[in-house]
Amino acid sequence: MSLPEKGRDIEDVLAEIGRLREDDLPVRGGQVTAYVYDTGRPEVHEAAARAYFEMLEVNTLDPTAFPSVVEMERQVVGAVAGLLGGGHGVFTSGGTESIMLAVKAARDSRPVPGRPRLVLPVTAHPAFHKAAHYLGVAVDAVPVDPVTFRTSPAAVEAAITPDTVLVVASAPSYPQGVVDPITEIAATAAARGVLCHVDACVGGWLLPWLREAGAQVPPFDMSVPGVTSLSCDLHKFGYAPKGASVVLFADPALRRAAYFASASWPGYTIINATVQSSKSAGPLGGAWATMQALGRDGYLELGRTTLAAARRLREGVAAIDGLRVFGDPDSALVAFGPDDPGGQDAPDVFVMADEARRRGWFLQPQLSYAGIPANLHVTVTGVTLRGVEAMLEVIAESAAAARRRGPVELPEGLVELVAGLDLDTLDDAAFAELAAAVGADLRGGSGQPEMAVVNAVLDALPAGRREAVLVRFLSVLYSSTAPA
Ligand SMILES: Cc1ncc(COP(=O)(O)O)c(C=O)c1O
Repeated sequence: MSLPEKGRDIEDVLAEIGRLREDDLPVRGGQVTAYVYDTGRPEVHEAAARAYFEMLEVNTLDPTAFPSVVEMERQVVGAVAGLLGGGHGVFTSGGTESIMLAVKAARDSRPVPGRPRLVLPVTAHPAFHKAAHYLGVAVDAVPVDPVTFRTSPAAVEAAITPDTVLVVASAPSYPQGVVDPITEIAATAAARGVLCHVDACVGGWLLPWLREAGAQVPPFDMSVPGVTSLSCDLHKFGYAPKGASVVLFADPALRRAAYFASASWPGYTIINATVQSSKSAGPLGGAWATMQALGRDGYLELGRTTLAAARRLREGVAAIDGLRVFGDPDSALVAFGPDDPGGQDAPDVFVMADEARRRGWFLQPQLSYAGIPANLHVTVTGVTLRGVEAMLEVIAESAAAARRRGPVELPEGLVELVAGLDLDTLDDAAFAELAAAVGADLRGGSGQPEMAVVNAVLDALPAGRREAVLVRFLSVLYSSTAPA
């Protein structure tokens, strides 16, 4: 874009946004089974949008200038603490920021002799790796059981060292939707004098309603002895607009270790509860209004329909010839793949994802990792139930089509070529050309991109190489060197 010489008419500008969004996945309706959370009640999202707009220009940078921010945050954090066993919280922009603050608080509240370390299951969200990377903390990843996908307290215990500042468990982990044995892991951490964070980003505002609707949900919240912090995203199953999460700490002293203040300059005084400094109060207003608009009964009703949809999806997928659900998810996240990955008649999950996309459905591919085969992931939400039979039909048809097409056939030598690329000497333009040669569209926005080849190449690479290639992909995507 170039900056227009003269200001434009707003209707024209909005129409252009509409055109820019033409190739976006739809955010409502339930056919996109990741990234977006739809209650199926448009009036709730509209109420949130109006409240967001109302608070849009308020800056949370200075809570003394905008007391509405303090009151709203107290109420939102209070509701989360009330549902999840208490604690002292901070409203943040999302799971990653909540996790960043939990890791910072742990690092700063417990000085250790060496480099601080974090123990986490391999299924923990990459936000912990990011926090560790940003904060100079080392990561010790422990395996999960290949059948249940839960980590074991014994494995966690074995990984704790005198430098461990935090142990992490998920409720649930995103990839397979299962809850780690929180009670035992928190007890193990406490016995070793180490803090324990429960990542309930995706489950915190879901599991209590599922439990009330009749699901078996193990204890996972701040009331579990040994749990010292917990993250709960409201922009997931709280159904708030994006930019809304809460991190809870067991006591005010630990929360203070998440805060940051600086008086080391001649400007205004800096007191920050979050990583971001100036930021809009829109997300806070949106989250507050969503909670007010839904209320307890609204969330419980969403919990009931979500549970019914998740059960139907699991049963329906298991009944499709050649497919299985991974583990026994306690939540509304369902991962599935072939019974016999790599077998002669196994549908390729990456081809399945492309086939589903052609039929108007987005199923999220997950690459193989730590002995867990590649699979597809569905986040069931409040809107899923009304389309669950159609979703099952699409999954069955996509599996059949993938079988007919056979697995992705990669050009000979391609994986070795990518694995061996010297990315330091390759500029973005050359990388884009190479990607185009294997059919990868780096311009984005092409409507229905065929991703199977790209996913298959990534899947064949070790994690470190995947990361280097993905960074390069992003760089090309946002540069002007992508082939037009
Ligand atoms: C378990 C879990 N933790 C953390 C996150 C990160 O959240 P965000 O994308 O809001 O930063 C996610 C996102 O899906 C998640 O599922």
